[in-house]
Amino acid sequence: MSILDFDTFGLRLLCIDDSKTQLLLYTSELDGMFSVSTASTYEEAIAQLTSSQPDLILLDMNMPRVSGLEFLDILSSTPHYAQIPVIIVSGENDPAYVKEAFIRGAADYVRKPYDSEELILRITRIFRLVSGHRDAAEKRTAGKSAQILLVESLADLASAKDNENTGHLQRIGLYSREIAAAAAASIRFRTDISEEFVQKIADMAALHDIGKVNIPEYILSKEGPLTDREFDHIKRHTTDGARTIDMIRLSFPDYAFLDFARDIILYHHERWDGSGYPEGKTKQDIPLASRIVAIADAFDTMTLQRRYAEAKDFDTAFEEILAAQGTVYDPDLVVVFRLIKNRIKDIYDKNRDQG
Ligand SMILES: [Fe+2]
Ligand SMILES: [Fe+2]
Repeated sequence: MSILDFDTFGLRLLCIDDSKTQLLLYTSELDGMFSVSTASTYEEAIAQLTSSQPDLILLDMNMPRVSGLEFLDILSSTPHYAQIPVIIVSGENDPAYVKEAFIRGAADYVRKPYDSEELILRITRIFRLVSGHRDAAEKRTAGKSAQILLVESLADLASAKDNENTGHLQRIGLYSREIAAAAAASIRFRTDISEEFVQKIADMAALHDIGKVNIPEYILSKEGPLTDREFDHIKRHTTDGARTIDMIRLSFPDYAFLDFARDIILYHHERWDGSGYPEGKTKQDIPLASRIVAIADAFDTMTLQRRYAEAKDFDTAFEEILAAQGTVYDPDLVVVFRLIKNRIKDIYDKNRDQG
């Protein structure tokens, strides 16, 4: 697409210049192609900013009272106006000024006297760049909300089956986030855990047992010990859940964020010493997110009243996690968990009555 094919109709241009002649020139050159408003003083410019809400500003450098550079500062420090691109149009040719204008946020610099066709091309080019950025940003936001929606629906599905404890899914996200955030501050995990990781684990930990939808109700609600066959069935919730994610990924190849959930789902019952399931992975071979969720899941499950077991009090459950350091759980993560006991207790106290 040539730059001239770009539809400029309706784009609002605010032209600021203390010379009335220049403003008349702008109007005759640009109005019709753009929707042009003008201001010859600082006060008029501020009034126009609010009333005409321009998409782009043409700004003179040498203005009385408030210079073009100062005006750039005012725009960039006002969140509402900071996104409006500004083209400086000036007779000032000193390279230091030109550089200073770019440093303070100008999108382009046009020297007077200018060629009006070139000016139109520059304005159009910047409009196009800016609208391209906006489209991309909007797409990213839309994509993100689709992610959140999908994760939430999957979590809903998981909680529908796991109705024994609806608060469990919420708390496991809170505990996992807390452990991940604290681990991110430690030397051991600093390079492995980003802010995005912490957010993802908070959002996706609730999906860990999604594979339970395939387990017959009589097994899930069975009181007393399970037979080997029944336990094998329970174990399959890890691989079944991962398969569900794989099916979704086939239809939505772009949803790479689900790989993170898949790790949690598939490996949250692995143990540090290799005695877990489904693959018997050991140590760092177990994805970090799964090692974190394993602690959060076990801790919360212990504190719950279940059909087949009494709820453990906070300290007993906490000590059980510490006791399994290096056998069931990543020893370094258990150190982190021990260090944030107060914060874990806080989550426990605030959320314990939810189910
Ligand atoms: Fe599980
Ligand atoms: Fe769980």
